[in-house]
Formats: sequence, structure tokens, C-alpha cells
Amino acid sequence: MRRKSFDCRRLAAAAAVGGMSLLGRAQVTEYQQHQWLNTPAASSHIGNLTGRPKAAAMVYRRYCVVCHGELGDGNGESAQWVDPKPRDFTLAIFKCRSTPTGTLPTDEDIYDTIARGLDRSNMPPWNTFTRQERADLVAWIKHFSPRWQTEKPGQRIEIPPEPEITPERIKAGQDVYARVQCWKCHGAEGRANGPSASTLQDDLGRPILPYNFAEGGRFKCGTTDRDLYRIFMTGMDGTPMPSFADNIKPEEAWNLVFYLRTLQPFPSKQKEIAKPLGLKPINPNATGP
Ligand code: HEC
Ligand code: HEC
Repeated sequence: MRRKSFDCRRLAAAAAVGGMSLLGRAQVTEYQQHQWLNTPAASSHIGNLTGRPKAAAMVYRRYCVVCHGELGDGNGESAQWVDPKPRDFTLAIFKCRSTPTGTLPTDEDIYDTIARGLDRSNMPPWNTFTRQERADLVAWIKHFSPRWQTEKPGQRIEIPPEPEITPERIKAGQDVYARVQCWKCHGAEGRANGPSASTLQDDLGRPILPYNFAEGGRFKCGTTDRDLYRIFMTGMDGTPMPSFADNIKPEEAWNLVFYLRTLQPFPSKQKEIAKPLGLKPINPNATGP
């Protein structure tokens, strides 16, 4: 199982060689996929909906195949024009999960992603499908990879209720940002210009930029405070964005969420409360290499 959690040595190594190693393409044949189509592992369950893969075949062909390809390997006709590349579903590696790094996402995770789309990519929000069509699409996506036959989705990470926002918590959140070195990639002010930013590559070996908080684009994996909490505690698999589940305690994670909100350009309660603090950006030199 591939885990990507935060590790300074790994970050240093990545910076030194200029990226992570290339992932081999999973060896999957059309014949295998055809067999998986009929297994219970390739259905989906979202609330009271059950998704059936075969029911999505036409919809997938019409709306998804140009990018994700006939075999789900991300090699559709338009893939060559698209950056970041369409997901290769044969690997079953997903950016947006409620589950720990290296594990499969839940059916709901994929279901939500389809409707949300992925900001700053060619993956549009597909919010005109019925709920049943979307559940069927989830099932269809699952028939492309052997992983769904042998692995279960990871255990959803627990998110404690959101505490009250206080100046102390925002200040403490900034300390977390400095301590676990988010700034190495995202920059001291969240402007995606940290010392490692220009060296980062995704698992396909393609250059990838950290998220720029000051620009205020939508997060790919959801816009609420709980989504933000989840993003850095699960990491975005297939990218250099690591999981911090081993480095940040739940209490600290909420503080960090509050601080991150102050880096965004929109008015927010967090910004109001932070104003009298007159927070200066963290000083990277003061927090070590
Ligand atoms: C115009 C090209 C395009 C089309 C059409 C398209 N996608 Fe995508 N899709 C992408 C790209 C590009 C990504 C990767 C974006 C990224 O990594 O930020 C992606 C990623 C995904 C992911 C992975 C999300 C994750 O958490 O990693 C899913 C699931 C997905 N697409 C489902 C679909 C479905 C279902 C359809 C059809 C209804 C579809 N896509 C149609 C381009 C497309
Ligand atoms: C090794 C570099 C690196 C480190 C360290 C890092 N990130 Fe990231 N982060 C990235 C990259 C690259 C992306 C963009 C991924 C993408 O767009 O697919 C990203 C994206 C994000 C996003 C946007 C997620 C979305 O859904 O679009 C958030 C929020 C984020 N990082 C928060 C953090 C926080 C908080 C920390 C520290 C606890 C941190 N990152 C540490 C590289 C890093």
C-alpha cells in the first residue's frame, strides 16, 4: 500500500532529485475489466442508493471517455491537451478522500467529487446527472481497477466538532503552519512560492504547483471548514501534498484551519478576529531548514 505522509527527509530528497519516481501503469486488460463488471465489489452504495456499473456504460461513453479513456486509463482522445492529466482509474489513486493516505476512497467521496469537479483542471462539475446516474458512474469507475476486488476503502478519518474561533487559536494555527512546514511548498504567506514549490512533481512526473491561498481559487476537494480539515489530514494522493495525520493533533488541526482562512482573500470571521492580532507572516528562517 502506498502511503504518503509528511516526512522532512522525503521532502528534501524530492527537492534534490526534482520529483517522485514514476508510477508504473497498472497492467489491466479489457478482459479482466469485463469480468470485474459482474462482481459485487464493482457496485456502489451511497445512502439508500445502489449504483450498478453497467447502467453507467452509455453515460460514461458519452461524457467521460474523451478524457478518461475507454479502459479508464486516462488516455482519452483529449488527454494530450489537458494538464493536469485525467485520472487513470486503473490505479485507483484519488486526490479527494475522507480516508487515510494510501487507502481507497469511500463511494461517497467519488460521488461527491463527480458533482463538484476539480477546480483548476479540465474536470468539470457534473451536477446535471440524477443521483442514480452518479451512483452508477461511481460503480463504473470501480470496475476499472483490481484494487476494488481485493481492498476495502479506508476508515473515514474522524473530525471533531468545530470549536469556537478565538485569537489564541488563530495564533496557534500559525505556529502549526510554521512547525510542520506547510510553508516549504505553500510559502510563508500562502502564495505558493515556498522554497520547494518550483521543484514539485505529481506521480506522473509532471510539474505541479502548490495551492495559492492568496489567489482564493476553490479547493479541489470541497470548500467547507470540515473539507479543509480533511484535505491536510488525508493528503492528496498522487501529488506531493502529504497527509499530516501523524504530525498534527485534531485540536491543532482546527487551529490550522482557522489560520489558513486568514490567508485567503475573502472576508471571514477568522480574518475579523485575527485583525487586532496584527499577525506577521511566519519567518521561515526562524523555524529551521
Ligand atoms: C475534459 C476532460 C474530462 C472529462 C470529460 C471528464 N473528466 Fe474526470 N478528470 C479530468 C481531469 C483532468 C482530472 C484530474 C484533475 C486533477 O487532478 O486535478 C479528472 C479527475 C477525475 C476523478 C478523480 C477525482 C480524484 O479525487 O482524484 C474522477 C472520479 C473523475 N474525473 C470522474 C469523471 C467522470 C465520472 C466523468 C464523466 C461524467 C469525467 N470525469 C469526465 C478530466 C475530465
Ligand atoms: C511537499 C509540498 C507540500 C507541503 C509540505 C504541503 N502541501 Fe499542500 N499542496 C501541495 C500541492 C502540490 C498541492 C496541489 C495539489 C493539486 O492541486 O492537485 C497542495 C494543495 C493543498 C491544498 C488545496 C487542496 C484542494 O482541495 O485543492 C490545501 C488546502 C493545502 N495544500 C494545505 C496544506 C497545509 C495546511 C499544509 C501543511 C500542514 C500543506 N498543504 C503542506 C504541496 C504541499
